[in-house]
Amino acid sequence: MAGPRSVLLGIETSCDETAAAVVARDADGNFEVLSSAVASQIELHARFGGVVPEVASRAHIESLNPVVAEALVEAGIGGDQLDGVAATAGPGLVGSLLVGVSAAKALAMVWGVPYVGVNHLEGHLFAPLLEEAEVRFPLLVLLVSGGHTMLIGMEGPGRCRLLGRTLDDAAGEAFDKVARYLGLGYPGGPVIDRLATQGDPAAIAFPRSMLHDGLDFSFSGLKTSVVNHVRRNPDVDAVDVAASFQEAVVDVLIAKARRAADGIGALGMTLAGGVAANSRLRERWLDAAMADDRRAMLPSLAYCTDNAAMIAAAGLWRLGAIGPTSLDSGVDPNWALSDTTS
Ligand code: KG4
Ligand code: ZN
Repeated sequence: MAGPRSVLLGIETSCDETAAAVVARDADGNFEVLSSAVASQIELHARFGGVVPEVASRAHIESLNPVVAEALVEAGIGGDQLDGVAATAGPGLVGSLLVGVSAAKALAMVWGVPYVGVNHLEGHLFAPLLEEAEVRFPLLVLLVSGGHTMLIGMEGPGRCRLLGRTLDDAAGEAFDKVARYLGLGYPGGPVIDRLATQGDPAAIAFPRSMLHDGLDFSFSGLKTSVVNHVRRNPDVDAVDVAASFQEAVVDVLIAKARRAADGIGALGMTLAGGVAANSRLRERWLDAAMADDRRAMLPSLAYCTDNAAMIAAAGLWRLGAIGPTSLDSGVDPNWALSDTTS
């Protein structure tokens, strides 16, 4: 690592958020977010009911320079004061990834600093470390996003083991699909979360798939069950459907996370990914940690959903532990988390 304190610009363009952030890391490994700017494309994609890759790439090209400028100005940092530029190199949409990675390489060359390619999922795992000092490991991380549902044992920054994952739909995908079926718009998670506060979580007994069965998840049966229930009961109250569906998802996530945390003797448990913004999951997470005498870490909502601060943090760790990424390396839309750790 270059000197006692390193500062990186991070860039995130893997899906539908164009984001840039400046993050510092001190000699003890603690992070300080100096700025974090996000330009969301959600409104652009909402009318299509999901992310349209071509629309996303074009919007990233338009937003990237202003977002990077905003992050640098807010941090009060010039390019010449940076120790490197990190960008998400996968997994994600290939066209979108290329926009961020090409920009990061160009800026790194102009400023004469290293480029670091970061795995987006590894980035999510750094989000809980952005706001907490003296984190004690092992840590159990539940990574729940639109594309992934994973239980991960973290022995230290960048040292992760996959303990369980979804066998079909991701948790966020289930929220989005159920919301789309109910005509609630995209993305579905925040709308269902909001509606659920007015509904009865015990109104409908939706299935808890694989509840007692290992650490893997399955959400496609639950989604089908919601569709069938609404078809058979067209007058059912949407707030009860939302609350009961959400409760079924959260029950399974919590039960498996507790079991996984027991299995690795976790000292703490933390959430990452967009679904970590879910208010019921956060509430139940705190209760579960308290019941099991573990430290609960809940990242701020802004660091749960896609952002570049987590990418800069993962980049800082990677630069120190592994070194710069070659400018010849490309993007990998299917980059698996298991390929990232050394
Ligand atoms: O991590 P993220 O921002 O993007 C990736 O998929 O990488 O996660 C987006 C997902 C979407 O499926 C969205 O519906 C879900 O996170 N989400 C939520 C909430 N906020 C966002 N799901 C449940 N409750 C929420 N409050
Ligand atoms: Zn994400």
